[in-house]
Parts: sequence; C-alpha cells; structure tokens
Amino acid sequence: TTPTEADLIGKQEVLPIYKPRDKFSHKGNFGHAVIIGGSYGKIGAVNLASRGALSSGAGLITTYTPKCGYIPLQSNFPEAMVLTDDEETFISNMNIGFEASAIGIGVGMGTHKKTVSALEAFLKQNKLPLVVDADGLNCISKNKDLISLLPENTVLTPHPKELERLIGNWDDDFDKLSKVKAFSAKHKIIVVLKGANTITVMGDKLYVNTTGNPGLATAGTGDVLTGVITGLIAQGYDPLAASVFGVYLHGKAADIAVEDFGYQSLIASHVIEALGQAYIDLF
Ligand code: APR
Ligand code: MG
Repeated sequence: TTPTEADLIGKQEVLPIYKPRDKFSHKGNFGHAVIIGGSYGKIGAVNLASRGALSSGAGLITTYTPKCGYIPLQSNFPEAMVLTDDEETFISNMNIGFEASAIGIGVGMGTHKKTVSALEAFLKQNKLPLVVDADGLNCISKNKDLISLLPENTVLTPHPKELERLIGNWDDDFDKLSKVKAFSAKHKIIVVLKGANTITVMGDKLYVNTTGNPGLATAGTGDVLTGVITGLIAQGYDPLAASVFGVYLHGKAADIAVEDFGYQSLIASHVIEALGQAYIDLF
C-alpha cells in the first residue's frame, strides 16, 4: 500500500509499504533489475546504481554499459552481470535482449547524439517499468518529444538543474511545485525532486521525505538512489511506493552511515553499505 494522507514520510508511513521476505523465497521472486548507463570516465556511476539496486533487495542485476565498463564492473562488482554496447566509450543502442523487471536509465551515460537516438528507439518499443535519472533526463531535455514516449508511472529523479532543463525555470517553490504537479499529471509520471527534503510528486499528491542529511551532498549518492528505486520496482513494489520507500531508505542509510563517517567523509559507497541497517531499523 501507499500512504494516502500523510505528506511527511517517516518510519510509520513506510512500514505498511515494506514487503517481508518469505522463508521459502528464491532470487526469482525479487526480479531482475537492469541499469543502463555509464560512459568513458563515468563507469563508477553505473557501479553505484547497480550496487544500490542489488542491496535494495533485487534478485538479479544486469548492468548495460559501453565496452570500456566491462572490466571495471566485472572486477569490482562480482554479483552483477554485465552486457556491453557495441561502442567502446558511450551507449549507442539499448538492446537488452530479455525482459527485465525494472530498468534504471541514465547515470553517467552522457548525452552523445547517438545515445539520445538510442534512447528514442528504446522508448518506442519499451513497455517495462522505468526510472530515468541524470543524463537520461538530460537526453530527454535535448529531445523533448521523448517525454511523451515514457510509459505511465515512469519515475524521474531530477536534481534542481536537471529539472530546470526538463521543465524550464520557476519563480519560487510554490511555482516550482505547481509546475511539477502539472507535468506529472500531464504525462502520468512520478517526479522525485531531490534535495534536502526530497519530495515525490504524483499528480496532486506530494510525499515529503524526512530522512537524509548534508552528508549526502557528495558525488554519486543520486546514482545510488536510482539503483535503490529501480531495485524496489524490480522486486514488486509499485513505482510510487518504490519512490517513496526508496527515498526514505536512502536517507535513512545516510543517517546511519554519518554516525561512523561524519558529514565530510561520507561517500556514496557508505550509503550502499548502510542500506541493510536502514532495513533493520524498520523493526
Ligand atoms: N540533505 C539531504 N539530502 C541531500 C542533500 C542535503 N543537504 N544534498 C543532496 N542530497 C541528496 C539528494 O536528495 C539526492 O538523493 O543526495 C542525492 C544527490 O543526488 P544528485 O544531485 O543527483 O547528485 P549525484 O548523483 O551524486 O551527482 C552525480 O549527477 O546530475 C549528475 O552532473 C551530476 O555528475 C553529477 C552526477
Ligand atoms: Mg545525479
């Protein structure tokens, strides 16, 4: 279920969303998440997102990335399967070749012309649940016709700059929220407005997260969130529940990790490593 009345999202609001694991469950019960992204010098982004997806509880993870990502991913993340593009340094098609449970697109991906075209071709045939972040959003901003190709309930996770490229600028927070609500309603998509109090928007409904801290203001934490939300959808949470719960867990993991690392030294990998404690803290 999804909270319908509480706008502020804390532990009491996410507990009813949480799906416990059955004793006899196997990895096939928790879906196959796919992360598409990376480019030369930004393979770390797909590494972080893919690890976030698996640590959120997805059963299987495949990372789709340019050829140059193959060795680093296989060496640093043995749990993941890796599929590579025909290109060495950027993504030029998105032919996954199997039916994923959820797909997260965009982290570290770049906005090469051929990547924008690949995204267009992908969106024209894809019906699977999507999370779009970072350069996935920037590719869409370069070709706004792509917005109408997003399947219903797609999750977009822009930071303020990515949002501005996508919907244009706004006067104040009130104006920003009304523009995002209208955008969400028009395209029937979920928008996760990242920042100090991340707000998940679906049509007129707003869910304001209460976890997280300034330790998250560091490279790659957004990539981890993309993975977490993708991983939650893959294991059967509906996209709105996955967004609200994912943002909560990601922030809670950062709140736990900051106890050990402090605001300055916290890095995105610490957030991934604390996701387990964030789950355990629910009970
Ligand atoms: N308090 C709480 N949470 C915060 C705070 C804060 N002060 N600052 C940031 N966060 C959280 C955001 O809510 C979000 O979940 O940290 C995450 C940051 O995500 P992004 O802004 O996407 O940053 P990140 O992904 O790390 O940046 C990597 O993304 O957009 C590209 O070009 C950008 O290269 C950069 C890349
Ligand atoms: Mg980002």
